[in-house]
Amino acid sequence: MKNIGVIGCGNILETYLRSQEYFNNINFVSCSDINMDLAKKTASENNIKAQTVEELLSDNSIDVVLNITIPQAHFEVSKKILEAGKHVYSEKPMSVKYDQAKELLQISKNNNLYFGNAPDTFLGGGGQLSREIIDSKELGEILTGNFIFAFPGVQDFHPNPESWFQDGGGPVIDMGPYFFTTLVNLLGPAKNIRSRGVKFSDKREYKAGPKIGKFFDVDIPTSYMFSLEFHNNSIIQGFISFDVLNHKRNHVELYGTKGSIIVPDPNMFGGPVVTSMELGSEWIEHSVENKPLGKTNILNKTVRSNEAPKQSNYRGIGLSEMVNAIENNIEQRCNGELALHVLDIIESAMIAAENSTEVNMRSTCKKPTPLKDEEIQKLLK
Ligand SMILES: NC(=O)c1ccc[n+]([C@@H]2O[C@H](COP(=O)([O-])OP(=O)(O)OC[C@H]3O[C@@H](n4cnc5c(N)ncnc54)[C@H](O)[C@@H]3O)[C@@H](O)[C@H]2O)c1
Repeated sequence: MKNIGVIGCGNILETYLRSQEYFNNINFVSCSDINMDLAKKTASENNIKAQTVEELLSDNSIDVVLNITIPQAHFEVSKKILEAGKHVYSEKPMSVKYDQAKELLQISKNNNLYFGNAPDTFLGGGGQLSREIIDSKELGEILTGNFIFAFPGVQDFHPNPESWFQDGGGPVIDMGPYFFTTLVNLLGPAKNIRSRGVKFSDKREYKAGPKIGKFFDVDIPTSYMFSLEFHNNSIIQGFISFDVLNHKRNHVELYGTKGSIIVPDPNMFGGPVVTSMELGSEWIEHSVENKPLGKTNILNKTVRSNEAPKQSNYRGIGLSEMVNAIENNIEQRCNGELALHVLDIIESAMIAAENSTEVNMRSTCKKPTPLKDEEIQKLLK
């Protein structure tokens, strides 16, 4: 069991606090925010301490700090945490710049500190069963595939959407981590990327919160299309966009030499996984409801922005698995090398679009080892 301090008391905090109900080795004790009024309110509602960032970082009772500030602050905050001698678990992305993330990984290694990073959704029932099926080779070799993540943008529900539309924001930084991490888990590290980015309008309207009806600036592309080649030679086409009202496909389709697989939404933990083995044959559904991190655990509409009324959401497994790794002196699955490689794919996608060129990855990483149900059971309450 480790005491966890949190920096950043925004939207996603509630989901992390809930993870204490599922996992037996995380104990949130303190929270902080540049907005101390928010930190105090959060602390009193959740029976934890409110501290300034400096107080939290010098608190000897805190072992691990969860960085859930906005992406543009991840580097500065994670660096401070490491310099205070504490382990970091950061929300995605590791940083908004590859070079900064590389520096973070170096500092963590030099100081024997763990650097863990979201997303952890690939550890869910859907991600793990997909991995099992692909590893079994029953679909042959995966050669091609595609995915779409698209929605109208966070201005529809988030009261402060500006950072998603400024340098360091955008659809690939925001949602790329889920899809690229899932693909690396299934196919291994990426080799190169080609890409195209488009900005359709210079202003957007606030649709939630006190600024509703007013407009804010859009500084960066809001839709990207790309083609990503992996070291295993598969080529995957991707589309990530803040410009689509409706579609029916937040999933990944991968095509092998002997069959096809539909990998469920990489932003969530559940299933089903769907496969088809013969031309014109029925699609076969593989439920993950009997898997410890696949079972539907959200049964009613919640206020959480990232949850459908019925879903599997076990965010926090990455943090719990890292705490277990610290205690047993082993490497965690949601580790800095994986997050750095995913950020490399993200940054390379944006560079490739800007320069109309193919960009080679600077980094690589190990394919994470599959997470066995018995390992998960040890972490569950
Ligand atoms: N909202 C979601 O559904 C969701 C889901 C998964 C992951 N995430 C990730 O979680 C992170 C946080 O997202 P969110 O939606 O909670 O954002 P948010 O804007 O609601 O909250 C971020 C909080 O961080 C604080 N903050 C910013 N800079 C800071 C600094 N330097 N020091 C201390 N506090 C600082 C802000 O005051 C704010 O309260 C992001 O990296 C995002 O990508 C969000």
